[in-house]
Amino acid sequence: RGAQSPNLTTCHLSLSDADRPVYCCPLKPESEETIIDFEFPSPSESIKIRRPAHLVDEAYIAKYTEAVDRMRRLPPDHPHNFIRQANMHCIYCTGAYNQANSSALLKIHRSWFFFPWHRIFIYFHERILGKLIGDETFALPFWNWDSPEGMVIPGFYMNSSLNDVDRDLGHLPPEVTDINFDYVESGLSPEAQVSSNLAFMYNQMVSGARKPELFIGCPSRAGEDGACDGPGTIELAPHNALHTWVGSAGQPEREDLGAFYSAARDPIFYAHHANIDRLWTVWEDLHGGRGVAGGEFLNDPDWLDSHFYFHDENARLVRVRVRDCLDMSKLRYRYEEVKHPWLNAKP
Ligand code: C2O
Repeated sequence: RGAQSPNLTTCHLSLSDADRPVYCCPLKPESEETIIDFEFPSPSESIKIRRPAHLVDEAYIAKYTEAVDRMRRLPPDHPHNFIRQANMHCIYCTGAYNQANSSALLKIHRSWFFFPWHRIFIYFHERILGKLIGDETFALPFWNWDSPEGMVIPGFYMNSSLNDVDRDLGHLPPEVTDINFDYVESGLSPEAQVSSNLAFMYNQMVSGARKPELFIGCPSRAGEDGACDGPGTIELAPHNALHTWVGSAGQPEREDLGAFYSAARDPIFYAHHANIDRLWTVWEDLHGGRGVAGGEFLNDPDWLDSHFYFHDENARLVRVRVRDCLDMSKLRYRYEEVKHPWLNAKP
């Protein structure tokens, strides 16, 4: 038992979902950097508002694409470089680090690290983008795929530098998402697919997710090799399902979005995860509110003290614990309120 953290001196080859060796370690080892403890942004910082991707305007899209272009142009060893950012996901997903004091690999999926790790990852990614364009109000968009208007790939991910050619050509707009996709086409009409998605959301957010372990995922403790292998409802689908649905059918592991090691190279990854992150707070609201909905996890030091390392917007290496990310308001961002049509879609 105990909290988990990576041993930064151990970055090594790891395995893709298909057990092919992949290497995603930084060119400059993180173990040589100075580490500082995470601090919350100043309470006077303006709150960033993440909006649904299908509602943002041209001015926003221009800003976002400019920020990503700047990220792509940074030197490959810069922690803010776009591919280096994407490789952070590869490192923590495929087990490129051993756990501290253990030969077990650190992996953040299929367990109670899924929501916190991705929250912190996109928190810094967003602040880095803002810094690159000198706009501290910059907020990521969220892909609102749980609402009928959001159930297609948002247009600006198609015709800008946010495009990724490695996507399933049969699933581009106006194809309606199948948020429970499992490699087989549903064959449903667009209307029937929307209804099926809404009913599925009700199950993943409400009827199938009444306990913390069912929604957040299973406890993964120090020394256990990666996952306890109990992903929460939302992690399994729509999360995994949409990774697979977007990824290219012409690539061996449905790269980019469809494979852990390459997923964060597709810019839509960040909007997908913003929606996942938003649904975490929606689930909390539906199940007693923040500080309640997490049940016994909220008193479990193995979860709360587990920590990971990220570069902040000033390129400093920061130690962030799970407990640091549980109160979104302290992180100075929030989500624009949207309707939840699936709440009325009890199957
Ligand atoms: Cu770390 Cu959406 O996967």
